[in-house]
Amino acid sequence: MVFMSIAQVMNDDMIGEEVELRGWVYRHRVIGGKVFVVLRDSTGIIQCVIDSSKVSPQVYDTAVNLGIESSIAVKGIVRKEPRAPGGYELHVKDLRVYGISRDFPIKGGEGIEYLLDNRHLWIRSRKLTNVMKIKHTVLKAGREWLLENGWWEVTPPILTASACEGGATLFEVKYFDKKAYLSQSAQLYLEVLIYSLEKVWSLTPSFRAEQSRTRRHLAEYWHLELEAAWYNMYDIMNVAEELTAYIIKRVLEENERELKLLNRDTSILEKSTKTPYPRITYDEAIDRLKKKGLAISWGEDLGADEERVLTQDFETPFFITHFPKEIKSFYMKTDPKRPEVVLGFDLLAPEGYGEIIGGSEREDNYDKLYQRILDEGYDPSDYKWYLDLRKYGSVPHSGFGLGIERLVMWIAGLDHIRDAIPFPRYRGRIYP
Ligand code: 4AD
Ligand code: MG
Repeated sequence: MVFMSIAQVMNDDMIGEEVELRGWVYRHRVIGGKVFVVLRDSTGIIQCVIDSSKVSPQVYDTAVNLGIESSIAVKGIVRKEPRAPGGYELHVKDLRVYGISRDFPIKGGEGIEYLLDNRHLWIRSRKLTNVMKIKHTVLKAGREWLLENGWWEVTPPILTASACEGGATLFEVKYFDKKAYLSQSAQLYLEVLIYSLEKVWSLTPSFRAEQSRTRRHLAEYWHLELEAAWYNMYDIMNVAEELTAYIIKRVLEENERELKLLNRDTSILEKSTKTPYPRITYDEAIDRLKKKGLAISWGEDLGADEERVLTQDFETPFFITHFPKEIKSFYMKTDPKRPEVVLGFDLLAPEGYGEIIGGSEREDNYDKLYQRILDEGYDPSDYKWYLDLRKYGSVPHSGFGLGIERLVMWIAGLDHIRDAIPFPRYRGRIYP
C-alpha cells in the first residue's frame, strides 16, 4: 500500500477508505480500552483511535506504550469525527513502530532558554513548523517576482576583505595568514555586477556582530539584496514596495492555514498587498515623534522605540527617506538639493515591527565617495576596487537589502526574531 499524507486524507472523499499514514506521535491518551494518538506529519495532524476490541493484543499493547514523538505507521479507515482536531479520525487496524521515543524532553510549559537548548527537538513544534512554511513562501515569492521582472540572480562572496556597514558589527575570521570578515551585505559586490548585468539580486546570509540582544537582531540572517543601474532612489523604492506587496499577497494565498494556526490577524496584511505605501521624510518623522512627546532632536538615529511609535500612524508598511548623512552609510548619495541628507530610505513594517528594508541611491562621483571613505575612517586602498567603479563608466544606481527574518517576523506576527530562523545565532548563543 502507498503511504498517504495526513492532509490528503482529511476530506469527505476519503471517508470509509482504508489508508496508511506515517508520522510522529504528537499526543497520546489511554481512555477505557482505547488509545487516542494524535499523529503528526509534515502536512498536519490527525487523531488515530486504537480500540482494544478491534486490534490484536500486541497492537493494542504497542499503542498503549507509545511515547511522545515515537515514529510510527498506522493502517486504518478514515471516519468523519467533528470532535477530533480537523474533523476526521483514523480507526486503526494495524500499527508499526519505526523508532521508539522515551521521555521526550519537551512536555509543555518549559522556559525559553530550555527550549533553545533543545532547539533541535523544539523545532518540530507546530508553531515553528508553521513559521517555516510561511518563510518558504516568502523566499519562493521573492524569487518569483524577481524572475518575472527581469532581475539576474548572482552569487556574491561571504568571506570579504572590507566592511560595508561599519566596523562595529564586523565578524573577523582567520583567513590563512591574513584577516578577513564575514559579509555584512552583498551590496558592494552587487554594485560591481550591475556594470554588466544592470539589474541583479542575491540571497545570502549576512553577519552582524550585534553587541546587544534585542527582539529583532540576529548575528546571522538571510539577506535579499537588489541593485540596479540607472535607477534613482524613487525607482528602487517602487521596486521595494512592489516586491514586498507581492510577497505578502502570495503568503495570504498559500499560507491561510498557517496564519490561522498562528492566530495571526491578517487585516493589516491584506491592506499591505496594495501599493503605493506611504512615504515620509526623516524631518517629518522627527516632527511626529516630537508631537508625541518623545525627546529626540534632528540628527539622532531612530531606534526600535522611535520606530515603534511611528508605526502607530500607519496600517501598511511605510517609507522614511532623506536621513541625515551622519547616521547613514558612507556609500549613500547625498541629496544635491540638501547636502546634509542622503538619498536613502528605510521601509518600516506596521504593528510596531519597524525596519524591514534599508536602501539608497549610491554615491557615483569618485571624489565625493573618496571623501566619504576618508571621513568614515576607512583606508581608501581597501576600497580601490569599489572606487574604480566610479572611474570607469560610472552610472547612477540604487539598491536595497531586505531582512528575510524581519519580514517573516512581521508577517507571522512573532514577538521575537529568533523564531523566524530554525537555528538562531546571537550574542551568547550558537547551539546547536
Ligand atoms: O539596513 P541594512 O544594514 O542595509 C544594508 O546592509 C545595505 N547594504 C543593504 C543594501 O542596500 N543592499 O540592512 C538591510 C536589512 C535591514 O533593513 C534589516 O531588515 C536587515 O537587513 N537586518 C537585520 N536582520 C536581522 N538581524 C540583524 N542584525 C540585521 N541587521 C540588518
Ligand atoms: Mg538599516
